[in-house]
Amino acid sequence: MSYINENFLELQDSYLFSTIAKKVAKFTKENPEKKVIKLGIGDVTKPIIPACLEAMHKAVDEMGTEEGFKGYGPEQGYSFLRKAIVENDYMARGIEIEEDEIFVSDGAKCDCGNIVDIFSQSNKVAITDPVYPVYLDTNIMSGREIVYLPVIEENNFKPALPKEKVDLIYLCFPNNPTGTVLEKEDLRKWVNYAKENQSVILYDSAYEAFITEKDVPHSIYEIEGAKEVAIEFKSYSKIAGFTGVRCAYVVIPKALKGYTKQGEEISLNKLWNRRTCTKFNGVSYIVQRAAEATYSVEGKKQIIQNINAYLENAKIIKEGLEEAGFTVYGGVNSPYVWLKVPDGMTSWEFFDKLLEEVNIVGTPGSGFGEHGEGYFRLTAFGTKENTREAIERIKNWKK
Ligand code: MLT
Repeated sequence: MSYINENFLELQDSYLFSTIAKKVAKFTKENPEKKVIKLGIGDVTKPIIPACLEAMHKAVDEMGTEEGFKGYGPEQGYSFLRKAIVENDYMARGIEIEEDEIFVSDGAKCDCGNIVDIFSQSNKVAITDPVYPVYLDTNIMSGREIVYLPVIEENNFKPALPKEKVDLIYLCFPNNPTGTVLEKEDLRKWVNYAKENQSVILYDSAYEAFITEKDVPHSIYEIEGAKEVAIEFKSYSKIAGFTGVRCAYVVIPKALKGYTKQGEEISLNKLWNRRTCTKFNGVSYIVQRAAEATYSVEGKKQIIQNINAYLENAKIIKEGLEEAGFTVYGGVNSPYVWLKVPDGMTSWEFFDKLLEEVNIVGTPGSGFGEHGEGYFRLTAFGTKENTREAIERIKNWKK
């Protein structure tokens, strides 16, 4: 008899974004004449940037020659990319990270989900609520006890330190879904908490490139001592049109330790390296060359253009909704805008109404957790034209 992992039975029936996609597909089928505007899942609309395209074409040609062909690459990523990451994402900010502390991967979603492999099931995990569902679901799958940290208006969307001792802490800032940020002082509290409690912070920094304000840390390693307590996740998805290309990386400093039951210190970098070599054959050479090109002079310029365009959309959404009388958060250092649904309505009721009456897709806040109830998320990753049209529709709808 093959016994299943019964933890899976504790999950919601369907992954949030799959549920939404099904609902939208049904609506579109029944209303083929309606132009539905999708501002739901954070998928980008700007194509792969030209610098990366060029690098990919070149790499494809190289792979078609005997001299240039590459078979299995290093599981952790090619040195050319790890070096570019160290220099551009860390050294340029005065942070010292070594090449062998970087692991290139096929996406931050996978990394955030897979990282649980190297931690004991007995760890108590703190997760903000509302939250990107991957952290929660992957810990339910592996049967860990979860402590929820509300991220709500009342605490200015800054989670309070847990009252009890937790072992793993997921933080995502700029935050998905609320679009809000932590300042350096806020993050310092978390680093100190983790030091005092020998916990590990799993810091999802996938939206770092959207930060516009000073004092908002771009990396957790800007905080002194963070290398001893934090793993950082970064992604190329939203900056260079990579949601379908798949490339990201995780940083596991060598100073970061976990413990055996007997209290022996073990390098988490070493464990992750061991896991990576066994379960992963690395990201394709072509994709890694594309990721490297994000750091070229042209690549950097093109990324800034993308980010600015998405941030302009965020501004259109935020200001338009405010004009329409909504209370709105996020959208300044983030591609996500978090709005309060009208009184007396649930997040899913608002989702249905918005879809049926103005044909706009967003994400119900309650899909991100109990404390997301009463809220709704719109993304700035649509085209400018569609974003403007969606907001005009909402403004007229409200009148
Ligand atoms: C989202 O909509 O929250 C994101 O697209 C999720 C992701 O990047 O996987």
